[in-house]
Amino acid sequence: MCGIIAISSDKQVAAALLAALKQLEYRGYDSAGLATLEKNKIHTARAQGKLAALEQKLKTRAPPGSTGIGHTRWATHGRPSEQNAHPVIAEVGGKSENAVAVVHNGIIENHAKLKQELARQNLAFHTDTDTEVIAQLTSLNLAAGLPPLEAVTETLKRLEGAFALAFLFSRDDTVIGARRGSPLAVGQSDNTLALGSDVLALAPIARQIAYLEEGDIVVLSGDTPRLFNAAGENIQPQWKAISPSSLQIGKGQYQHFMQKEIYEQPAVVGETLDSFLDPARLRASFPEFPFDTGSLRKVLLSACGTAYYATVAAQYWIEGVAGLPCSAEIASELRYRDPALGGTDLAVFVSQSGETMDTLEAARMVARAGVSRLAVVNQGESTLARECEMSLLTRAGAEIGVASTKAFTTQLALLGCFALELARAGGVSDERLRAYGSALMELPSRLYEALTLDERVSAIAADISRARHALYLGRGAMYPLALEGALKLKEISYIHAEGYPGGEMKHGPLALVDDEMPVIVLAPSGPLFGKIASNAEEVMARGGRVLLISDAEGLASFGGEPEWVLEMPSCDVFVQPILYALPVQLLAYYAACHRGTDVDQPRNLAKSVTVE
Ligand code: M6R
Repeated sequence: MCGIIAISSDKQVAAALLAALKQLEYRGYDSAGLATLEKNKIHTARAQGKLAALEQKLKTRAPPGSTGIGHTRWATHGRPSEQNAHPVIAEVGGKSENAVAVVHNGIIENHAKLKQELARQNLAFHTDTDTEVIAQLTSLNLAAGLPPLEAVTETLKRLEGAFALAFLFSRDDTVIGARRGSPLAVGQSDNTLALGSDVLALAPIARQIAYLEEGDIVVLSGDTPRLFNAAGENIQPQWKAISPSSLQIGKGQYQHFMQKEIYEQPAVVGETLDSFLDPARLRASFPEFPFDTGSLRKVLLSACGTAYYATVAAQYWIEGVAGLPCSAEIASELRYRDPALGGTDLAVFVSQSGETMDTLEAARMVARAGVSRLAVVNQGESTLARECEMSLLTRAGAEIGVASTKAFTTQLALLGCFALELARAGGVSDERLRAYGSALMELPSRLYEALTLDERVSAIAADISRARHALYLGRGAMYPLALEGALKLKEISYIHAEGYPGGEMKHGPLALVDDEMPVIVLAPSGPLFGKIASNAEEVMARGGRVLLISDAEGLASFGGEPEWVLEMPSCDVFVQPILYALPVQLLAYYAACHRGTDVDQPRNLAKSVTVE
């Protein structure tokens, strides 16, 4: 979603702003722009589309100045266009001393009301954005004689909704940032102060960063930032040095970030297991929980998108292995429900970014019910991690491709360990726990083996990329993998796809089967193999084109002749949902490559969904 950068330094900043915006590209956007300040004049450059279009404009006329703000916009209010791109400028009364430029991530929910009110004061609006009310209100406050910090503070009091903001003023070499609901960090190094939506944007500029808390306002001017909390008190930033790994976001030898991230999975799943599995005792190993795992009555798991599918798989583990009642809930639905929860329940929220608005709001709703909350995140400093009573970190590292891959498998690895911890607390025998632990320990090697299927998957994907629709089938803990496979395919190749539990085929979807739509059947050997194999046979009997993904044992016992087969390494049933993520990711990746779509930044999508 929208990315924010602001830099105040002793050098010209246009090039540095553009470089930082490139670091934010992965978030997804449809227009971009920047504004700089020189001699009390705000200069802007904006362009619709990719940053290359903005870069082109800067080549002919780079806005001058050593202070500036920049933005990548993911349209919510107002179509993607140059006119609606940020920074949004307001200059009440046409007086240059009242000019202010604003960049915004989030949604101002009362913008229509504010716009009507401002229109009654004869203020003209030049964009269709909700952001423009922020600029107009602030300019109005400046015109009324308020200095920049007070002008912003007064504006913020009028806003409802979520936002991270950066303001640039014509009258003063100052940038002001504010956060309510959307993430924002401040960074500094020699002679440079900066604001950014995330550490990736700030990594090339700052040596240390501090995340703003809810309601914080920060002023960049002079040598050090001044930070104020929601009560208006001057507070000290909690600086953290930026680790060199946060700078490592190159594609290396790979064509796309997604491909690189698929290939990183054996390593990052291994690192995640290293954190939560004791190799000597083959048992889960967690820091002390702020709740008693032995007396939990129910576990509620919640997330969005791919992270939600990880929770669906975990539901099978927590019920099947730990024997605890467990439900997996889509966060955007959960937040508006009134679930029956009690003090002995645990709610687990899973999010790569830790900034997904619906997941955050679901976690806040659950907190009001007095339930303990555990966050599973890939960003340790994220809002979700900071708000929940405890957070556990997946070790995926920076995930840049919009399509989630290594975040998913590391979430599964962590949740698998957590299920074992709950099982231990529930009295499951050591022998059983060791068998599961040993299956997890072997997983990184199996993941390496699965990657050797790369070329074969690419060949199959060439056929599948010509389809308009596809169906993914799975049963048991492979059902969420069918959902995830379908999401991956539609998200990056734009082929319509659905995931179904195999047993549901006869209840409707079988009518879709023809000789054009590929049906991808996830059928590892195990207790449900016979069931899913029958579902595949039923599709083939009706002329359907099946890709059977199974292991040697499954393929040997399958009677029919599917159009395509993929032979996966064998593994314990417990870890199959993690291993089978790889072929569905590779299939979607190569289908997208064959179709020539934008793999890392699929149209209309954002990496982290920070608005509702
Ligand atoms: O950052 P989160 O894990 O909370 O993101 C949740 C979803 O937006 C995300 O998993 C999305 O579905 C992926 N782009 C799918 O590949």
